[in-house]
Amino acid sequence: MWIQESRLRWLSPRRRDKRWFLRLAICSSSIVFGTLIVLYLAELGPWKVDPPVPNAFAWQEFAALDGYYNGVRNLVPYLDHTPQNGYNRSLPLKAELTGLAKMPPLDPVKFDPFPDHTMRQHGNEYHSVTQCFLDEDETVAVPDVYVYPGLPQYHPEPLFGSYDELGMREDLCFDRFGRYGPYGYSYDDNLREHGLLNFPKDKTFGKLVGKDTEHEGSEKVFEQAGYTNWTGVDWKNAQQRCFEKNKAMFADEQPAGMQRVQRHAFVLRTWADYTYDQHQILAMRAMVSELALKSGGEYDVHLLVHIKNDTIPIWADEDVYQKTLQEAVPREFWNISTLWSVQQMKMYYPGPFSENFANMVDSSAHRVYRSAHFPLQWFSQQHPEYDFFWNWEMDVRYTGHYYELTSKVSEWTKKQPRKGLWERNRRFWIPEHDGTYQNFTTNVFQDTEVDDKKSNDYQQSGPLPIWGPVPYRGDDGLVPPSNGTTPPSSYEDDRYEWGVGEDADLIVFNPIFDPTQTNWVFRNDVTGYDLTLPIPPRRAAIITLSRMSKRLIDTMHEEVWHHKHTMFPEMWPPTVCLHHGLKAVYAPHPVYFDRDWDMDFLNQALNHPNHPEESPFGWGEHNLLGSTFYYNSVFSGRMWRRWLGFIEGKKEGKGGQGGRMREEAGAGRMCLRGMLLHPVKFEKELEN
Ligand SMILES: *[C@@H]1O[C@H](CO)[C@@H](O)[C@H](O)[C@H]1NC(C)=O
Ligand SMILES: *[C@@H]1O[C@H](CO)[C@@H](O)[C@H](O)[C@H]1NC(C)=O
Ligand SMILES: *[C@@H]1O[C@H](CO)[C@@H](O)[C@H](O)[C@H]1NC(C)=O
Ligand SMILES: *[C@@H]1O[C@H](CO)[C@@H](O)[C@H](O)[C@H]1NC(C)=O
Ligand SMILES: *[C@@H]1O[C@H](CO)[C@@H](O)[C@H](O)[C@H]1NC(C)=O
Ligand SMILES: *[C@@H]1O[C@H](CO)[C@@H](O)[C@H](O)[C@H]1NC(C)=O
Repeated sequence: MWIQESRLRWLSPRRRDKRWFLRLAICSSSIVFGTLIVLYLAELGPWKVDPPVPNAFAWQEFAALDGYYNGVRNLVPYLDHTPQNGYNRSLPLKAELTGLAKMPPLDPVKFDPFPDHTMRQHGNEYHSVTQCFLDEDETVAVPDVYVYPGLPQYHPEPLFGSYDELGMREDLCFDRFGRYGPYGYSYDDNLREHGLLNFPKDKTFGKLVGKDTEHEGSEKVFEQAGYTNWTGVDWKNAQQRCFEKNKAMFADEQPAGMQRVQRHAFVLRTWADYTYDQHQILAMRAMVSELALKSGGEYDVHLLVHIKNDTIPIWADEDVYQKTLQEAVPREFWNISTLWSVQQMKMYYPGPFSENFANMVDSSAHRVYRSAHFPLQWFSQQHPEYDFFWNWEMDVRYTGHYYELTSKVSEWTKKQPRKGLWERNRRFWIPEHDGTYQNFTTNVFQDTEVDDKKSNDYQQSGPLPIWGPVPYRGDDGLVPPSNGTTPPSSYEDDRYEWGVGEDADLIVFNPIFDPTQTNWVFRNDVTGYDLTLPIPPRRAAIITLSRMSKRLIDTMHEEVWHHKHTMFPEMWPPTVCLHHGLKAVYAPHPVYFDRDWDMDFLNQALNHPNHPEESPFGWGEHNLLGSTFYYNSVFSGRMWRRWLGFIEGKKEGKGGQGGRMREEAGAGRMCLRGMLLHPVKFEKELEN
C-alpha cells in the first residue's frame, strides 16, 4: 500500500504538529544527521533538566541507566553481579558506590577466544596453528588482550541479543588498558625514544592518548603483556607469512577426516582524506593481530580506499597508482590497501542501468551512496582466494575482541535452520520479553501462521513464510537456482533441519525487514527492473556492516554486470539472497540502551508498529537514538568516548560527564562487555 503512494510521501508528515521538523530530520537519513544530533543534545539529553522541555518521545520518560559508568574499582565476580535494569517494572537500581578500594579488586587476565591454540579441532582431526610474528626474523610476538574477570556492579544488560546464545563470554569486561594497551595505547613517551612507537604526529591529540587518564592498576596489564615494538611492521608481509606458514589448513585437498578452514577478507571501507589518528591505528593493529596473525591466517585485513578524484587514472599507470596510494594512506597500510574510484566502477560496470523506480538522492547509479557494493564486488573478483568478505565501516568500534565476535557470529549463523529464518530475521529478539532464542523461534513460527491468514501482498513482499528462492514477475530465466537453494522438503515437513550446518551467505547486524511495510526513504531505489511491472519483493537491513559469502557476492556481481540490476546498498545483498534462495541471517549481537525501557513497550515499538510510518526503519527510528547500534544512534559515540576516558557532553554545559577527575572520584575507568558501537564519528569532543 505504501509503495503506491507518492514517493515523496515522507516529506509531508501526517500531523503537522510542532514536532514535524524533528520527524523530517530523523527520516531523511544521514543527510541531516548533524541536525539530529544537535536536536538530541539540545533537547533530549537526560542531564539537561532545565528549562523543562516536554519530551518529544514517549521513551524519554524511562529512567536513565548509568550503571555503564561504574568502573574497575567496582568490579565483582560475575556470580555477584546484579544488572541495573528494572525494565520499568521497578526503577533501575541506584548505582551508588560506597567503600570502594583504590585499586581494582580483581586483576586483569589474558583473554584467549581462539579454539585450542596449538591443537585446534577441525572435523575429527587436528590442525595445529603455527605461531605468527610481527617481524620477518620472528622475534616480535603478537601480544594478547587482557580483561577483568568480572563486571562492574550494576553493568546493565543488553535489550536485544545475547552473549550466551552466540557462545560469547558475558562474565568479563574490557577496559581501555587491557583492550588497547598491548597495541601501544598509553605507552610512555620514553618508549618513543627507544623506537618502540610509530604513531604518526597527531594533530588532534598532540600527545599520546591514555597516559593522562585514570589508570590505577593498569600497570598489571603491562607487567603481563610487556611492550611490543610496533615500529615498521609491514602488515602485508606479516599476514602473508602467517598464511604461508599455515597453508595446509586452507588447502582444497585435505587428508581424510580433516576439514578445510575457510578464509575471510576483512575489508575496511575507507577513503582518501580519512584521518587516521592514534585510535584508528590502535584499532587497525587490533584487527590485524586478532583476526589475521593470532588465528594463523584465517583472515586478511584489507583497506579498500575510495579515491574521490575521478580524473586520476589509478587503473592505467602503476606510478600514478603508487603516488595516489602514498598520499591517501599512512605508510604502515600501503601494502594492504586497494584503491578504487567511481570512474573505475563506471568502466567496470558500464550498464546502461535503466530507469529506477525512485531515486531519492537524485544521483547516478554509480555514486558510492547508491552503489557502495560495486567496489566490494569488484574487489571480490580480484580475490577468488577468499570464502567470505566482511564489509566493515570506519565508524564502527568494538570494545571486545574482534576474533571472538566474528568467529562466534559465524558459528551461530551456520547453525541456524532455514525454516522461519526470514520471519525471525525481521524482528529484534528481546530476551527479557521473548525468552530464549528457542522460545523466540517458536513464537515467530506461531505468529507466522497467524500472519499467513491475513492477506499478504505477494507481489510486493513475497510469500509468507519464505521457503526457497522468491520469484518475481519479469525474472523469467534470469535466476537459475544455484546448488542447495531449493528446499529439500516442504515447509510443513521440515523439522528445522534444512540449513543447519550451512554457512550463512549474508550476516547482518540489524533485522532484515520488508521495506514495503515501512516508509523507509530508500525503499524504491531499485534500478534495472521492468518499470511496467510491480517492483520485485525485497528486503533491507540498516547499516552495511556485514559478512558476504563468495556465492552471494558472485551472484550480486552477475546481477549487476549481466542483468544490470542494482538497489540501494542496504537493500541489495538481502534482496539478492531473497531472489536466489541464499541464506541470510541477522545475528542477534548484544545491543544496549541508555534508558530502562519497558519490555512490552519496546517490543511493540520495534516489532509491532501500529502503522508502517511508525516502523523503526521509518519515522519510528527515533526509538533507537539511545541504542548502541543504529545508523543514527547518539549513545554509541558517547559510550565509546567515555570508555576512552574523555569528558563527554561538555558542549551542553555543566562541565560534561566522565573524564579523569570524575573517574578518580568515582568507581574508576569504565569496563564494558564486548559491544559493537555505531556510529562513532569522532573520538574526543573538541576543546572549544
Ligand atoms: C512504566 O511504569 C509506570 C509505573 O508503573 C507506568 O505508569 C507506565 O505506564 C509504564 N510505561 C510504559 C510505557 O509501559
Ligand atoms: C623496533 O623495531 C625497529 C624496526 O624493526 C627497529 O629499528 C628498532 O631498533 C626496534 N626497537 C627496539 C627497542 O628494539
Ligand atoms: C611493501 O611491500 C614491498 C614488497 O614486499 C616491500 O618492499 C615494502 O617495504 C613494503 N612497504 C611497506 C611500507 O611496508
Ligand atoms: C584531481 O586530480 C587531477 C590530476 O589527475 C588534479 O589536476 C586535480 O587538481 C585534482 N582535483 C582535486 C579537486 O584535487
Ligand atoms: C519458553 O519455553 C519454555 C519451554 O517451552 C516455557 O516453559 C517458557 O514459558 C517459555 N518462555 C517464554 C517467555 O515464552
Ligand atoms: C552441490 O552441493 C552438494 C552438497 O553441498 C555438493 O556435494 C555438490 O558437489 C554440489 N554440486 C555442485 C554442482 O556444486
